[in-house]
Amino acid sequence: VIAHFQPKHLAGKHVLLTAGPTFEAIDPVRGITNLSSGRMGFAIARAARAAGAAVTLVCGPVALPTPAGITRINVVSALEMHAKVMECLHAQGADVFIGVAAVADYRPATPAEHKIKKEDGAPPPIELVRNPDILAEVAALPNPPLCVGFAAESQKLAEYAERKRRSKKIPLIVGNLIQEGFGGDNNAVTLFDETGATALPPGSKAELAHTLIERIAKLLEKPEK
Ligand code: CTP
Ligand code: CA
Repeated sequence: VIAHFQPKHLAGKHVLLTAGPTFEAIDPVRGITNLSSGRMGFAIARAARAAGAAVTLVCGPVALPTPAGITRINVVSALEMHAKVMECLHAQGADVFIGVAAVADYRPATPAEHKIKKEDGAPPPIELVRNPDILAEVAALPNPPLCVGFAAESQKLAEYAERKRRSKKIPLIVGNLIQEGFGGDNNAVTLFDETGATALPPGSKAELAHTLIERIAKLLEKPEK
């Protein structure tokens, strides 16, 4: 193993992040979920730790080992993810919040207590209600951490990512086209901030995570963001 001695640009900082999908129960054995391996979020957690930060990772159902030195909180649904994030902010605060999770936008209004049986006739309808927008809510707190979002789009990346950045009122959003990154080790992303769009050189999720963390450390240094 080669030791890489990295500058500890986030020493003394607390980075809170979400990763993975959420799972919204329909009944005890079924649910609605998003596609997300959790790998990008875990890579960012690792990079933040390597930069000297204390790291709390709130993650949905993923099949990944916990990176060394990180506090991991497992959740299933968006409501649980929301609750754990707010609890953590209340208890210890955070300097940086990074929303990497693919949070389900909707959940079944009332999950069935027992397994739904199939019957003849019309399929049963599933009534959906909106989940809270965790990132937008954190960004709207009175004294918010530096908030970073992700936008995985299937088309019109620049337009949708920048619109998202503005509507959630966050300084930085990381955009990618879903064809480029899903499930694999590599990704191609573009950063959107107030100065415009910057495409990062395509690389491994570990390399991109490192570049992103360095960018976030720079933003933290600025007195005005
Ligand atoms: N996000 C969140 N809570 C939600 C939905 C999204 O924290 N309920 C965060 C994601 O973690 C990501 C960012 O918001 O960092 C953008 O998520 P995305 O699903 O791309 O955007 P939405 O605002 O949900 O818009 P849409 O799905 O309609 O594109
Ligand atoms: Ca969404």
